[in-house]
Amino acid sequence: MCGIVGYLGKKEKTISVLIEGLKALEYRGYDSAGIAYQKENKIKITKSVGRLQNLEQKIKIENTVLGIGHTRWATHGKPSTTNSHPHQVGSITLVHNGIIENYIELKQFLEKHNYQFQTETDTEVATALIDYCYQETKNMISALKRAQKELKGSYAFAILNNEEPNILYAMKKESPLILGKTKEELFLASDPMAICAYTNNICYLKEGSILKLEPKKITLIEENETIPIWVTLDMEQTKCSKNGYDHYMLKEIYEQPDVIYNTVMPYLENNLENLHKMPNFNQYEKIQIVACGSAYHTGLVGKWMLEGVGNIPVEVEIASEYRYKKVFYDKKTLVIVVSQSGETADTLASLRKANKDNIDTLAIVNVITSTIAREAKYVLPVKAGIEIAVATTKAYLAQLALFSLITLKLMIEKKLIENEELEELLAHYQKLPIKIKKLLKELNVKELASKTYKNEDIFFLGRGIDYAICTEASLKLKEISYIHSEAYAAGELKHGTISLISKKTPVFSLVTDKEISEKTISNIKEVKARGAYSIVITTGQLDEKSDYYDDKIVIPNTHFLLQPILNIIPFQLLAYEIAKLRNCDIDKPKNLAKSVTVE
Ligand code: AGP
Repeated sequence: MCGIVGYLGKKEKTISVLIEGLKALEYRGYDSAGIAYQKENKIKITKSVGRLQNLEQKIKIENTVLGIGHTRWATHGKPSTTNSHPHQVGSITLVHNGIIENYIELKQFLEKHNYQFQTETDTEVATALIDYCYQETKNMISALKRAQKELKGSYAFAILNNEEPNILYAMKKESPLILGKTKEELFLASDPMAICAYTNNICYLKEGSILKLEPKKITLIEENETIPIWVTLDMEQTKCSKNGYDHYMLKEIYEQPDVIYNTVMPYLENNLENLHKMPNFNQYEKIQIVACGSAYHTGLVGKWMLEGVGNIPVEVEIASEYRYKKVFYDKKTLVIVVSQSGETADTLASLRKANKDNIDTLAIVNVITSTIAREAKYVLPVKAGIEIAVATTKAYLAQLALFSLITLKLMIEKKLIENEELEELLAHYQKLPIKIKKLLKELNVKELASKTYKNEDIFFLGRGIDYAICTEASLKLKEISYIHSEAYAAGELKHGTISLISKKTPVFSLVTDKEISEKTISNIKEVKARGAYSIVITTGQLDEKSDYYDDKIVIPNTHFLLQPILNIIPFQLLAYEIAKLRNCDIDKPKNLAKSVTVE
């Protein structure tokens, strides 16, 4: 999603800080980019559609102390040079992350005051509004305060005023924005990744902040704060390279043994000391899990674990629905939000909704400095490290592991687990990283990928927990290979969707839950009878001569609470191999953004 970088500092460095900053934000997804910088009391703007290299080719390297840059992920108006940022109206040039919800009425108002618009964007309207407020007062801080009152929606702005050289302004509401500094330089960014090559001294701007940056001088206007609160960025969180792998996604898949080790082990050491420090889950009568995309899918698995094993009712909600619906919760409800980035707009809004109603909230989150991590009452960190590929793999896996640990804590609190079974489960946790490593080493899905990559429809079937895993398997495939795919609860297929099964339609069936495997096998027979190319993924030793599958993948067994963590891995690799055969841009799939900061 959109990215912002701003710089005020050394004249020979500005353009490269902007370009390198934007490159560091590429992983978030974008379709156009642009920069603006100050040169001889004028603002120069360069913009371009497509990848950053197109912009780089257009940019003249000039000496300048001040500039702003932006990667745009289109919301209002198609990706085009005109619609891309920075936008300039009158004295004001700015870049924007977020959505201005009342831009149509503001546009009508501004048109009456002789403003004309060149683009389809909400951002151009915000630029004109700030210019209008500035022309009335000729004072930027007053202008920004006034604009703040008029603007509805979310925004992080980095702003230049061509009547005020060497000054960079910023303003934020509901979209992340950070300030960074060194002795002689000031930085703005929507994500620490953009500036971590230059500084680890940063300040997270609060809601409603207005910022004025002059050489070596910071003026901050926040509700209760005028002095920035500096924190040191954990540079380990920002290190990234492909480490010899062809794609970040593949590297991240192969990092999963370490990720599970790092996420789980701190809870198991010293007689489960940290597990016991988790909130007391037994005080709640209901859990609501709220998230988007893959994080929502971990919630589906979490529901199965918590209800089936932890014996507590769980509702799993899509955050974009939850934030606007009537929600039934009370003091006995725990709301768990799940997010890799910790910045997903709908998940954040859902968290704020529950916080506002004084409901206990817990965040399972990877980016520990994110807004969600800062605003939730309790936080369980996912120790996945930075995840670059748009398609999540290692963060998803670690989220599953955390749900298993919450369930374990609940089982202990409710005395649902005897000592012997606990010892056995802990031994399975210890062995899990090695099992994942072995599975990754031994799995070969290349042949299956080559048999299926030309299909335009692929189905995933499962029951119960296996179905929950299938939802993620299907999303992985869709997002990086652009193949249409659906995950179906195996028993539901014949209520309509089976009409789509024809000769050679690939159907991947996950059959690991022994209690209902016979039922799933009956459903597989139904699709096989209609000509499907049936591939079964199982932990069981299936009959070699069976007539209901054409191919199979065998996954190692573990404790049933941990089994889903192994089960998703073949599907991650399969999606990767299929996307590779289709020559897709695996790490940056079309239309997608890593962090969805607009609703
Ligand atoms: C995952 O592969 C997807 N790219 C996407 O569904 C993602 O899980 C979703 O946007 C939620 O993001 P979050 O975990 O950062 O909140």
